[in-house]
Amino acid sequence: MGLYRSSGVYCTQCEADGFRRITYFLDRPDVMAVYTTRIEADRAEAPVLLGNGNLVETGSVGADRHFAVWHDPHPKPAYLFALVGGRLGKVETRFTTMDGRPVTCAVYVEPGKEPRADYALDAVIRSMAWDETAFGRAYDLDVFNVVAVSDFNMGAMENKGLNIFNDKYVLASPETATDGDYAAIEAIIAHEYFHNWSGNRVTCRDWFQLCLKEGLTVFRDQEFSSDMRSRPVHRIGEVRSLRARQFPEDAGPLRHPVRPRAYAEINNFYTATVYDKGAEIVRMLRTLLGAEAFRAGMDRYYADNDGRAATVEDFLAAFAAVSGRDLSAFARWYERPGTPRLAVTATYDPAAGRYALRFAQSLPGEAGRDGPPLVIPVALGLVGASGPLTEASSPDVRDGVYVLDRAEAEIVFEGVSEEPVPSLLRDFSAPVRLDLPLSDTQSMRLLAQDSDPFNRWQAAQDVSLRLILDPDPGRADAFAAALGRFLDDEALADPAFAALVLALPSEGEAADAVPSDVDPDAIHRARHDLRAHLGTALRSRLERLDAALAPAAGAAYSPDAASAGRRSLRNAALDLVAAGDPEAGAARAAERLAGATNMTDRLAALGTLALIPGETRETALAEFAARYADEPLVLDKWFAIQAQIPEAGTLERITRLQSHPAFTITNPNRVRALIGSFAFGNPTQFTRKDGGGFSRVAETVAVLDSANPQVAARLLTAFGSWRRLEKSRAAKAVEMLNWIKAIPGLSRDSADILARTLGDG
Ligand code: ARG
Ligand code: ZN
Repeated sequence: MGLYRSSGVYCTQCEADGFRRITYFLDRPDVMAVYTTRIEADRAEAPVLLGNGNLVETGSVGADRHFAVWHDPHPKPAYLFALVGGRLGKVETRFTTMDGRPVTCAVYVEPGKEPRADYALDAVIRSMAWDETAFGRAYDLDVFNVVAVSDFNMGAMENKGLNIFNDKYVLASPETATDGDYAAIEAIIAHEYFHNWSGNRVTCRDWFQLCLKEGLTVFRDQEFSSDMRSRPVHRIGEVRSLRARQFPEDAGPLRHPVRPRAYAEINNFYTATVYDKGAEIVRMLRTLLGAEAFRAGMDRYYADNDGRAATVEDFLAAFAAVSGRDLSAFARWYERPGTPRLAVTATYDPAAGRYALRFAQSLPGEAGRDGPPLVIPVALGLVGASGPLTEASSPDVRDGVYVLDRAEAEIVFEGVSEEPVPSLLRDFSAPVRLDLPLSDTQSMRLLAQDSDPFNRWQAAQDVSLRLILDPDPGRADAFAAALGRFLDDEALADPAFAALVLALPSEGEAADAVPSDVDPDAIHRARHDLRAHLGTALRSRLERLDAALAPAAGAAYSPDAASAGRRSLRNAALDLVAAGDPEAGAARAAERLAGATNMTDRLAALGTLALIPGETRETALAEFAARYADEPLVLDKWFAIQAQIPEAGTLERITRLQSHPAFTITNPNRVRALIGSFAFGNPTQFTRKDGGGFSRVAETVAVLDSANPQVAARLLTAFGSWRRLEKSRAAKAVEMLNWIKAIPGLSRDSADILARTLGDG
């Protein structure tokens, strides 16, 4: 925090309260000022000098030194201040805004890596154009600079005119980056650029309003990525990550409202709840108001709050003003922690052609009683044996959306000619847990017949989750047959979607569905068995797909969504076949690895191999490390794959990797790759009964805490679900948490997470 050096480059990170480490200041977001920055440095050490705003003067100071003066005409809070000085290469281009302003856009990287910055630069230009068309927002300075640094605690930072990035989210080449990396770069470049309006021009009055800029900006970057790629595929990805990161947070001791009421350390509130649930609230607002009124509300918000430090109330007031709607009940979403449960039951009267859906929402509050109801938009439809029942209608459903604003309610459809399967929460229209008991047959009808792609995917997830929690070979066969028909009919038409349908819910998601006494080993086994079953049953189809999706010989790699989708299905097919027949799978994966022409295919094959113990795996891992010895970001992938191997030997493997020459505890990306992937991505080994997994993470926290409390505290959040584990594991987790607690001089960051994790249930 403040001014620091990363691989010889001077740079800054001031959000949330780092500016006070540079100089005395009224370091609050509502204290806004115009900044002029004069930077002076040794010319050889720092030939590039960057600040906020526009460059107004440069010159020499004696023989060896030089200076640059930057002026930012837009008043801003101190957290948006930045400067950079160092030896950097760049790529640049020009963009002309819709109001005719020429802007020079540049991406600065370590000298020699310039070609790897082209994709990020292209994403900058696409983001600028998109914010103009989608929201009417133009850029407002003569230059827009992005700088990549290799030691960075978070993803990136939206400093005015000078975004500073973790280099992981800038550098990309087919040889070193996966399709997922390209998508993440595009999304984070967009996110930081969009902050120029949602965050910088309109900033936050205080840090309790963090979601005002973060939730809104995540929503905006999600919309951008959806427009750049496949909208349904992107939506499924958003929901997968919400369920993997935010639902557990909301269900454990670290739960907090999207707008927290209190904090001991604000850096601990850059959470999935503030960011991702915050984005879901904005999305619900658009669903409730419709796209047109939503856009008018956004325009009103900017018009009323430009140059101001605003609040969530200001945000909602803009939408209330343009729509005439009372949003006071909707505002409860910002205040109530926890994931609401939405229970639904259905009754059908064939003689009357009438179908009724009964809804009941619940969200236990502090006293254990339900609070006032939330406003839940439920996008829905009814699906018959051969497709959606378009003639059915209900007066309570408008544009396919029913708005539940009471604790309980019933809606009635008329003109229902056959017993339908309800398709509820289409496109995941609200961040709730849906409690709707469907049979496998009903779910499989949705998979085959629903018009909503999200719910088709959800239906396959529901069946697999039930089969993981309650294994049954007969039902697994029926499911495999349904998947087979789906693959035959549709896999090649939309490979990215098909790959998602084949991906089973994660072990974490399965654990989340177990009420208590979670046994991660049992979940792992059941999930593995189901994968093996499906891989065997679908083998010939998957092999046909694998062959059909092979790239033409000599074809150049392109990171576009369609090509990425073909790779993802082909790699998912290989992985599932390997689950069913590990021996053949290992051989096939090794072959794929040897022939791969890009990092996506290479890493996917290595990931498949990583789950199959034996010589082939160890040789492949060693060769990979040798090949990428000089590529820290690629070695991070190698660390991460190994940290997630679900075997008892992984702890020892991590010990070896901790003394690998490329590993260093001082680099946040390295720590997250090795220890973070273990803590968050290896449920069976992190929660080992002997406590060895917990203690490895605890030791890392202890070593890291004084040098980098933010990353240490983030690692500690892995213990957040300890109460749901079966007793012996939970006891080990508590033992380790108390061990950390006893460390003298623990940072406020870690002490805060510890207190909350050990505190209330
Ligand atoms: N505002 C940045 C972003 O989301 C994140 C900064 C996080 N910084 C921190 N100290 N927690 O784009
Ligand atoms: Zn942000």
